Amino acid sequence: MNGLPESPPLSLYAHIPWCLQKCPYCDFNSHAVTGDLDESTYVTALLRDLDSALPLVGGRELISIFIGGGTPSLFSGAAIGRMLDGIESRMACAAGLEVTLEANPGTVDQGHFKAYRQAGVNRISIGVQSFAPELLQRLGRIHGPDEAVAAVAAARLAGMNNLNLDLMYALPGQTLEQARHDLATAISLEPEHISYYQLTLEANTRFHAAPPVLPDDDRIGEMEAIGHELLDAAGYRQYEVSAFARAGFECRHNRNYWEFGDYLGIGAGAHGKISDSASGQIGRTRKVRSPDTYLQTAGISDPSMGIDYVTEHDLPLEFMLNTLRLKRGFSPGLFERRTGLPLLYIQQELNQAVARGLLELSDELIRPTITGGRFLNELLDLFVAE
Ligand SMILES: C[S@@+](CC[C@H](N)C(=O)[O-])C[C@H]1O[C@@H](n2cnc3c(N)ncnc32)[C@H](O)[C@@H]1O
Ligand code: SF4
Repeated sequence: MNGLPESPPLSLYAHIPWCLQKCPYCDFNSHAVTGDLDESTYVTALLRDLDSALPLVGGRELISIFIGGGTPSLFSGAAIGRMLDGIESRMACAAGLEVTLEANPGTVDQGHFKAYRQAGVNRISIGVQSFAPELLQRLGRIHGPDEAVAAVAAARLAGMNNLNLDLMYALPGQTLEQARHDLATAISLEPEHISYYQLTLEANTRFHAAPPVLPDDDRIGEMEAIGHELLDAAGYRQYEVSAFARAGFECRHNRNYWEFGDYLGIGAGAHGKISDSASGQIGRTRKVRSPDTYLQTAGISDPSMGIDYVTEHDLPLEFMLNTLRLKRGFSPGLFERRTGLPLLYIQQELNQAVARGLLELSDELIRPTITGGRFLNELLDLFVAE
């Protein structure tokens, strides 16, 4: 393997693995809280986890922190503050560091958001999902639409000027009109960013075991098309499969994933990707998944489950799995900088994709065509190593 000309930008993901109640569609590493939430021990464990990961990144600077879950908004401002202080005292942080925290509307009020803002959080991602009470109920959510609207107002009053709302479509029994209403309501709240996800039935979820009736494919296609039109007309530019942003508000953290950047992952079940520019090796890390084991072993043993190195053969597919999600695609130079491989390495696959009308190539950009974006799996299949 060749070395890399530079280290990719570095982000940090911190996972909080608890929720008030488990939603029937969710396959994240999230668990209903039973008993008291020992946030203080968990923060101590997170910082120890970070200490053992630091040698992997030397003195590299962070460009973003994402506190995700689970439901990070179950944690107090004091706990989030201690976590962020701990991170910032251990690592150099870039000017304008983006710090996102995921919030569930059923767990927040203005006091919460004020404390997060004071702790250094400058971007809030609110899990709205829908504004229709009956759909929220079918999704097993712990909140109604009013709490979502109140959460947005509270976040604004607390001084948050970078908000994302998560919405899902193709929900059980959802009509086209309901999908349109969800987006129109979200847009009327004027967030800087909207994530618009198609509901998927994931293995190991209650919805997978007992599938609800979902809208048919034609209806889902219409929901997506109308949704994209509404978002576009309201000034939200699609930059990734499910991500839409006002100018200047693309999520820096997620964009770093999609541009095949590096990230440390701390917390129960967290994944990371770290490149060693000298050797060109790209390692994938993961941490103990069970929150109880993670807490019990904190400080006694390293929560890391080791590092798997990506082979040269698998690198092109790993790179494409991320970058081809981006509407603008990527530059040929980015492929070379992130993988250490010359573009010639994938010239045959690129030519095939162009011949099939799935990719367009220029000297500056390689990006999926509209067909390529629609049939992303077919496009990615071309990069699977034989
Ligand atoms: C970790 S959750 C966000 C924060 C918080 N846990 C909540 O749900 O309010 C991330 C987002 O992924 C989306 N999501 C979760 N499961 C999904 C599924 N099966 N299909 C599509 N989107 C899903 C939801 O929009 C959710 O808000
Ligand atoms: S609140 Fe969010 S993370 Fe928790 S179970 Fe529901 S969707 Fe999953």
